[in-house]
Amino acid sequence: MKIDVVLGLQWGDEGKGKIVDVLAKNYPVICRFQGGPNAGHSLQFSNKSFVLHTVPAGVFRKNTVNIIGNGVVLDPVIFLDECKAISKMGIDPTKNIIISKRAHLILPTHRIIDAASETSLGKTKIGSTLKGIGPTYMDKTGRNGLRAGEILAKDFKKRYNTLKQKHVAYLKQFNFNYDASTYEKEWFKAIEYLKKFTIADTEYELCKHLKTKKALAEGAQGTMLDVDFGAYPFVTSSSTVCAGACVGLGIAPTKVGRVYGIFKAYCTRVGSGPFPTELQDAVGERLRKAGHEFGATTGRPRRTGWLDLPALKYAVMVNGVTDLIMMKADVLDTFDTIKIATGYIVNGKKTDKVPFDTYAKIEPVYKEMKGWKKDLTECRKPEELPAAFKRYISFIEKELGIKITYISVGPDRAQTIRMG
Ligand code: GDP
Ligand code: IMO
Ligand code: MG
Repeated sequence: MKIDVVLGLQWGDEGKGKIVDVLAKNYPVICRFQGGPNAGHSLQFSNKSFVLHTVPAGVFRKNTVNIIGNGVVLDPVIFLDECKAISKMGIDPTKNIIISKRAHLILPTHRIIDAASETSLGKTKIGSTLKGIGPTYMDKTGRNGLRAGEILAKDFKKRYNTLKQKHVAYLKQFNFNYDASTYEKEWFKAIEYLKKFTIADTEYELCKHLKTKKALAEGAQGTMLDVDFGAYPFVTSSSTVCAGACVGLGIAPTKVGRVYGIFKAYCTRVGSGPFPTELQDAVGERLRKAGHEFGATTGRPRRTGWLDLPALKYAVMVNGVTDLIMMKADVLDTFDTIKIATGYIVNGKKTDKVPFDTYAKIEPVYKEMKGWKKDLTECRKPEELPAAFKRYISFIEKELGIKITYISVGPDRAQTIRMG
């Protein structure tokens, strides 16, 4: 059987957690393939809400196998906290989560390097989540990293200390005060907890499951934060695109089925970097308020702006999106008019392509559409959607050349409309 993939098409926080939770009822296996606790995936059902960072969003569905793939970086402390919250729901996470032996561990000193490096960059900082993501991936590709499968090794502590000492030496250049001792104690406690889990060659497990079952891969971050295709260096350190699912899980490209591309009806971004349609005015503030646009991981206010079609087209292209999912349409319910960027003016020239130059001055070209001025949050069927809203989505479908399969009109599981 195939593995379908859910991906963010913008700068993260599109609503991946919610939609994976909704789709999870159709998939016995759910997998995370990249990122780590920089992700904050929100879920809401039965008047309860959760934020997951490392754990796949299938964890609340009975009989679902949740795989944390080799492409993920895992902070044992944050993982333990998440698992405690999941246990309170009467679910035993040690029974329905499998961790790849090849997933890299985030050490306390990785977090410190992240903080030291960001501080040293000053105004030019990336705006990272300070979870140690970049430094952990640097150690992975630099062939220094420590992997989950090593925690049972007799000399694990020695291996840990070897890497820590490298970090201590590296940190000397920063003139950065730190004390990792408290976090380190918690970290080793959390390592003991990690030993309760099945830590496996998940590429074999997944291959075995795919003989009889469908699987769903849950992306983290978004295409515009991809290490290759985002506005470098204002990106995360992993491959957030569809191909990342193959590398981050050990599956062949021929195994990929549907590619679900998720986008918000507008745009947000946390952290630094280009954001062509950003609104630094009252309209942007209105979007932030209506959409509760504050980071699920860091609590930082998210930057807000209009929908950016050139960026979306780019994301659709590099991911091979087969189905679109539009999130948070309800946030625009009260707007008289809604703008959509259909192109850019870059260095005086009109284009509909995302420029390579991260520092290029980009001026969006907008199309203005009439708002629908109706409450979408109670809609459950396509025929209940207002005509002006249907015009809005038809325009987007035509521009992107793909159909919108689901529309989300609120944070709850139930607030989801299957189109057609
Ligand atoms: P993720 O990182 O892609 O999983 O997204 P986040 O969870 O970080 O951010 C999405 C936010 O929007 C969360 O607070 C969700 O509860 C909320 N949300 C998801 N879908 C909708 C929707 O259709 N409407 C509204 N109003 N909120 C939504
Ligand atoms: P989810 O999965 C939004 C952003 C950070 C920063 C940049 C690099 O919830 O959509 P990092 O800590 O990865 O080194 O930070 O990427 N970023 C996210 N923005 N949603 C996320 O995840 C993000 N994960 C990282 O704000 O700009
Ligand atoms: Mg998020």
